[in-house]
Amino acid sequence: MVLVRHPKLVVRNLSVYYGDFQALSSISLNIPSGAATAVIGGSGAGKSSLLRSLCRMNELWDNVRTEGQVLLDGHDIYGPDADVTEVRRRVGLIARHPSPFPKSIFENVAYGPRLHGVRDRRELDEIVKRSLKQAGLWNEVKGRLQEFALNLSPGQKARLCIARALAVQPEVLLIDDPAYNLDPVSAAKIEDLILELKQEYTLVLATNSMQQAGRVSDYIAFLSEGFLVEFGPTSDVFARPKDKRTEDYITGRFS
Ligand SMILES: Nc1ncnc2c1ncn2[C@@H]1O[C@H](COP(=O)(O)OP(=O)(O)OP(=O)(O)O)[C@@H](O)[C@H]1O
Ligand SMILES: [Mg+2]
Repeated sequence: MVLVRHPKLVVRNLSVYYGDFQALSSISLNIPSGAATAVIGGSGAGKSSLLRSLCRMNELWDNVRTEGQVLLDGHDIYGPDADVTEVRRRVGLIARHPSPFPKSIFENVAYGPRLHGVRDRRELDEIVKRSLKQAGLWNEVKGRLQEFALNLSPGQKARLCIARALAVQPEVLLIDDPAYNLDPVSAAKIEDLILELKQEYTLVLATNSMQQAGRVSDYIAFLSEGFLVEFGPTSDVFARPKDKRTEDYITGRFS
């Protein structure tokens, strides 16, 4: 296994089943702290399943069974004393189709902090402003925070959902297919944002795009049919893939 000095998340023998179907097969992986790890692989490889398992969102489906361990700063998020709400606060997931709540821009961002007990209006104002700034959206929306969030453009909606995730001060951000269905300009903005966010957070990105993985990630985990085929620094995986399947994938040869 590749040596990772400060893993934020340690995944040990993680298996995920949907009914009888095994979507992840005994994955072991150390996710480095303060870096961006791209999870790549073809459709159905298990990228979204892996991301959802890292924040206990997979169990929202009732046919799911999870085996193995996921240690967050050394503590198993599946352990008997784990606090699921706290796990989900510390590890935020931004799904592939990030859809704002049918509420105002302000209420979308304030939602999480309110849920965690923040009542003071001034504090909420500050959190909303800080989160929108961090998500690179503040300048576009500062004069219209009470407007309906669903009227924003797709790229703005994606950044609003990132702001919503940031509002509860997570430590890890899991972003599933960041540029999915966005026009090139909006997608580039999201990539710039990812490059900024990785200065402060541990990021895990699921993507089908090798180009995107190459541009934004420090590490790559390559999944194929639920198995972890290869993990390493992005530059190494691109320059010297160890496994033929990785090589075929990054050179665009699919068999
Ligand atoms: N809730 C579910 N119930 C049953 N099977 C599921 C469920 N979610 C995912 N699967 C199956 O698990 C496998 C992995 O799916 P997953 O969505 O994790 O792949 P992915 O790599 O994210 O794919 P994509 O690139 O299309 O997003 C697929 O075969 C999928 O059909
Ligand atoms: Mg997916």
